[in-house]
Amino acid sequence: MPRLSVWFIRASLIYLLAGFMLGALLLANNGIEFMPSAWELLPAHVEFLLAGWVVQLALGTAYWILPRHTRGLARGSTELGWLSFSLFNLGVLLTASSGLLPGAFQFAGRVLEVLAAGLFLVLIWPRIKAYGA
Ligand code: HEM
Repeated sequence: MPRLSVWFIRASLIYLLAGFMLGALLLANNGIEFMPSAWELLPAHVEFLLAGWVVQLALGTAYWILPRHTRGLARGSTELGWLSFSLFNLGVLLTASSGLLPGAFQFAGRVLEVLAAGLFLVLIWPRIKAYGA
């Protein structure tokens, strides 16, 4: 497995753990209210699990498994891949920061996520082809 996929998948598992822990906290707080501000963690729970875990696992697996180039770099520009990985993760953290940081940070987080997805699309597009084509 390429190094970039390893890091995409590792990061996705960290978000899975963090997202489940936040979910468990919200659930426990629903039963016995011990933390009145717990609802501020709901956006982070959703962002960690939907973008941080589900989307990131798909990106890492796609980079690994799609047909490779027969000439040049087998999986395309590694720099572009790492840039996409970094922007995406910064984007997830900023988007999940509601309640901690002003709204402009969450907006910036979404912009970074979209930018990262665009870069990933540019990287992966030529590798979406029939086997042997
Ligand atoms: C892949 C796994 C998961 C995903 C994608 C997910 C996603 C979501 C989403 C989208 C919401 C917001 C629902 C809304 O606004 O109406 C939510 C709420 C919530 N989630 Fe999760 N969740 C996951 C796993 C978990 C787990 C494992 C727990 C508990 C251990 C949990 C506990 C909660 C709680 C307590 C709420 C608030 C529900 C309420 O409105 O009372 N979630 N989750």
